[in-house]
Amino acid sequence: MDDQEPQKPRRVRYKGTHPKSFKEKYKELQPEQYADDVEKVKQQGKTPAGMHRSICVNEILEILKIVPGQIGLDATLGYGGHSLEMLKCLVPGGKLYAIDADPIELPKTRERLAALGYGPEIVDIRIMNFSGIERIYLESGPLNFVLADLGVSSMQIDNPERGFSFKIEGPLDLRLNPKSGKSAAALLKSITEEELEELFAVNSDEPYSEQIAEAVVNRIKRGMKIETTTQLQEIIKESLGFILHDKRKEEVKKSCQRCFQALRIAVNDEFGALDKFLEKLPDALVSGGRVAILSFHSGEDRRVKKSFQSLFREGIYSEVAPDPIRPSAEECNTNPRARSAKLRWAIKA
Ligand SMILES: C[S@@+](CC[C@H](N)C(=O)[O-])C[C@H]1O[C@@H](n2cnc3c(N)ncnc32)[C@H](O)[C@@H]1O
Repeated sequence: MDDQEPQKPRRVRYKGTHPKSFKEKYKELQPEQYADDVEKVKQQGKTPAGMHRSICVNEILEILKIVPGQIGLDATLGYGGHSLEMLKCLVPGGKLYAIDADPIELPKTRERLAALGYGPEIVDIRIMNFSGIERIYLESGPLNFVLADLGVSSMQIDNPERGFSFKIEGPLDLRLNPKSGKSAAALLKSITEEELEELFAVNSDEPYSEQIAEAVVNRIKRGMKIETTTQLQEIIKESLGFILHDKRKEEVKKSCQRCFQALRIAVNDEFGALDKFLEKLPDALVSGGRVAILSFHSGEDRRVKKSFQSLFREGIYSEVAPDPIRPSAEECNTNPRARSAKLRWAIKA
């Protein structure tokens, strides 16, 4: 009948008492509607689905010393948590440029920030790679501060369609921008055993790179498909069958983490992008301008440290972090994804 109330959509059903898959976590995916449920997930030390918890926020604000009216860049917008805090320090009169290579998450973040009152007049959000940072500063003029929080966001890791996690079945993609470049599955089809061994060893210090590369390339030569995250995870597991039983589970997990990370670094040319960004950074900053970079593995941290220290010796930076800053024990307890973070900073001379 016409005057009947429209039926509410049925809630998603899941087995047991807690949702397990990404799609079942419909409450976490709608934080505006289910704020209490989202808070409960955070209290358990977990990151709610579709969200990212920003790391070292206070430490970063202390380094950047943002004041109203300044112009800055968030080179890795992600969920926009750091951007939001930086925006609060900028007003009135300032401007934030915020970029990210990911065209899937970026529009959602733009909408979230606009709903909080930060529209295009104060935050200029663009889909782009930070390797092309000159496109920003040639337009904006020299910046007072720059932040880069490297790697991937929790939204990207948790979404099975992106293929970032070996724990969840999904296409073996691993691209920040799925419309650009080659997926990890395509890369595996075209790589030699020697190249793959080097990729695992160089990008992630994988100790079993030889055995894993041999197993992967052999399977492909025999016509087997490696197109999903769990297919690759199974091959890694089989190739490590020689490890003693009581150590094997943990070693397989660590190798999966490292090999997925190595493939992600390769398909997104993460080291190439970071090197270009670090090289162009001094030109992006005003004298006295500040930069903070959060890294999550040794390959990234080594590059940041080397660049900051050599530009310091050349007198281009007047001050650099003597040692990396680590998140507090409390932050690591409430957000285990913070555990590997290292924060470095520099000030332009
Ligand atoms: C750890 S997250 C950033 C989280 C963010 N700071 C926050 O508070 O929500 C890293 C982000 O950097 C982006 N990213 C990684 N490499 C990039 C690059 N070369 N250029 C632009 N964005 C990049 C990823 O797509 C991801 O969204």
